[in-house]
Amino acid sequence: MKRIDAVYHVRGEAEYVDDLPQPAEMLYAAVFASTVARGKILALNLLPALALDGIVAAFAATDIPGTNQWGSIIPDWPLLATDEVHYVGQPVAVVVGKTKACAQKAAKKIAMQVEELPAIVEPKEAFVRGQIIGVPRTFVLGDVESAWSNCYLIVEGTCEIGSQEHLYLETQRARAIPLEGKTMRVYSATQNPYAAQRTIAQMLGWPHNAIEVDVKRLGGAFGGKEEQATLWASLAALAAWHLQKPVELVLSRLDDLKMTGKRHPYDSDFKIGVTKEGQILAYEVKHYQNAGAYADLSTAVLERTLFHSTNAYFIPNAKIFGASCRTNLPPSTALRGFGGPQAMFVMESAITKVAEKLGVSREEIQRKNLLFAGDVFPYGQQMQTNSVPRTWQKAEQIYHLSKIKQQVEQYNANHFETKKGYALMPICFGISFTKTFLNQASALVHVYTDGSVSVTTGGVEMGQGLSTKIAAIASLTFGIGIQRIKIETTNTTRIANMSPTAASVTTDLNGNATMLASGQILDRLKVVAAKELRVSEPERIAIADEKILYAGEETNLTWAGLLEKAFLYRTNLSAHAFYATPGISFDRVKEKGHPFAYHVCGTAIVEVTLDCLRGIYEIDSVKIVHELGRSVNELVDRGQVEGGLAQGLGWMTVEDLRFSGKGQLLSKNLATYKIPDVYFMPDEIALEFLTEENSFGPYGSKAVGEPPLMYGIGVFFAIRQAMRAFQPQRELAFKSPLTPEQVLCQLYPQEFQEMAENIAVSSTLLAST
Ligand code: MTE
Ligand code: MOS
Repeated sequence: MKRIDAVYHVRGEAEYVDDLPQPAEMLYAAVFASTVARGKILALNLLPALALDGIVAAFAATDIPGTNQWGSIIPDWPLLATDEVHYVGQPVAVVVGKTKACAQKAAKKIAMQVEELPAIVEPKEAFVRGQIIGVPRTFVLGDVESAWSNCYLIVEGTCEIGSQEHLYLETQRARAIPLEGKTMRVYSATQNPYAAQRTIAQMLGWPHNAIEVDVKRLGGAFGGKEEQATLWASLAALAAWHLQKPVELVLSRLDDLKMTGKRHPYDSDFKIGVTKEGQILAYEVKHYQNAGAYADLSTAVLERTLFHSTNAYFIPNAKIFGASCRTNLPPSTALRGFGGPQAMFVMESAITKVAEKLGVSREEIQRKNLLFAGDVFPYGQQMQTNSVPRTWQKAEQIYHLSKIKQQVEQYNANHFETKKGYALMPICFGISFTKTFLNQASALVHVYTDGSVSVTTGGVEMGQGLSTKIAAIASLTFGIGIQRIKIETTNTTRIANMSPTAASVTTDLNGNATMLASGQILDRLKVVAAKELRVSEPERIAIADEKILYAGEETNLTWAGLLEKAFLYRTNLSAHAFYATPGISFDRVKEKGHPFAYHVCGTAIVEVTLDCLRGIYEIDSVKIVHELGRSVNELVDRGQVEGGLAQGLGWMTVEDLRFSGKGQLLSKNLATYKIPDVYFMPDEIALEFLTEENSFGPYGSKAVGEPPLMYGIGVFFAIRQAMRAFQPQRELAFKSPLTPEQVLCQLYPQEFQEMAENIAVSSTLLAST
């Protein structure tokens, strides 16, 4: 079935924050932000902005009546900078005008005097200087120290992992509307309505119930609106409170790129030891996460990095260290995979280096070390299924790995300047928020007397198809047509204390809550039906295709008829239900536990062709076996797998996000920051699903949002293989993204060194003339 909002999207009718009808007298806000990565604010002059036509007011930190300090995990981030600025793009003041254009123009007029201080942009430097957020963490399994001596081969290496921009279509935005008494309604493009509600309440010194946050849908988020959306909602609310008028804040694309945090770059060091046959005996890794200037979600992202450091492999002796390092970049934040992809990249790099040193194929080492049911993760949980080897074996078989290998070898033997490469990429991603308490959700369901149904949950539709799945779940539970179900906006007044829409668990949590709430109403309806049908066992009533069945036999009662009767019998046709994932916990002192309800696994085979003279490459195909569970909407899930894959491929290849040594974003527009487009995507994407029922997901389904991104990691190693086919002797770096420029720099290091020297010489000459 198509998504329930597909028609609105195609017609351009889908509503986002700033599509809502504009209230009278609405004002528009724009943000003035720091232009230096670190500095002391000596003076801030808002007057030049106020002098402009159409400007109504401007606010700085001193205008915040309550708490100017926020953050879901560690509240270390001022909404507006006070004495110091810590990254380029940090908000310092908000200007409000009668139009968006005049507000944006006025924001540029604000004058700030700053004493610039030395900035740190590299995580290892921050670590050495003691700039650490939270505490460094270490997971231990077995005993690496004593395992090294049993290893036939030990290799060490370093990974430099690049960042990634979310590039959601809809930039950050919010509209705040002051209401009677001391209350406010805020329409926010957020994955985390409760965080916006909490933060605005604290900022104004109000109770939570005074703030109503409402979200219809997001034009994409990918983690970028989990924590960071709160800031913009709060700034709109601040202005609305001062002026007692509706205020809208919409970031322009360039401001959004500059002012918001991105995926965490990592510098990671690994050491891996294997037997002669390639069995991994020990693995030690140190992850230095570039967290940016404030905590944001960095410690939670780091935690997931630790959880996924051994990916889909069983390693009996492992020591996994990680530290969130504070730098002067915009606070790094959630992005699809949430620290998992970085961990898996390092693991794959370590395996690759081992394979290269042993002179065997990568997949030989991978295959020997796959994770089986009963194997223990470094965090203490046992793997429950054989999904990793099953997807691996199936991928090898149905996609004919031996043939792929043979074809690539043959191609490479017959071609000089172009080479092919392939790589297998198994994944194993834990499902559940790693912060156990977040694994809770509620749903509110009403059935009206005409048989139509209203469902509110704490989940946000952000393009992932949540609404379609929740509607499908309600329709399955009631046994009625999906067209009868209306999915309401996500609203903090209807659903209290909601968790963010994240960690791929939104359908699991909110879908289960929807099943429970619908089930309550259904049970009451069965009692009514039994009365109407004059039968004694309501539990033998069932509803299918809107017909009421008794003991499997169709009766003359229908859904619509039943609802009319239920009202007359004074039946409660509303229900609220709560769901919390059972059986999960994690002990942060021992660093052991059972944090995940289950894992999602799969295996991909990526094939590329590289032009070794130009550095450009094509992704020929990606062939995947993915564990989907019993899907409630396979079309939506297919979209998630392909979309996630695209984002993973982009992260590894063309998305080259760069900051200068002074913390200035260099890839600051879409001319310098490239994302994969339809032509970049492989000609062939083959998808095969494993569809066993999953007991944690509604109707046996499995989470699907993030895991497929990590198949994209395979492309890096496929390109690397092609590079090695051309230049077997070169030392190649584990540095992502592997852009065509990077490919050339690594294939021809001498030439590029000379060129860099020539450029340096000519610029010195130019400077001296
Ligand atoms: N798909 C679309 N189209 N847009 C998005 O913003 N976000 C991803 C993924 N798929 C996203 C998406 C991320 S980061 C997560 S965590 C999941 O969707 C969240 O939704 P779910 O929990 O319903 O899977
Ligand atoms: Mo997704 S990164 O958990 O919002």
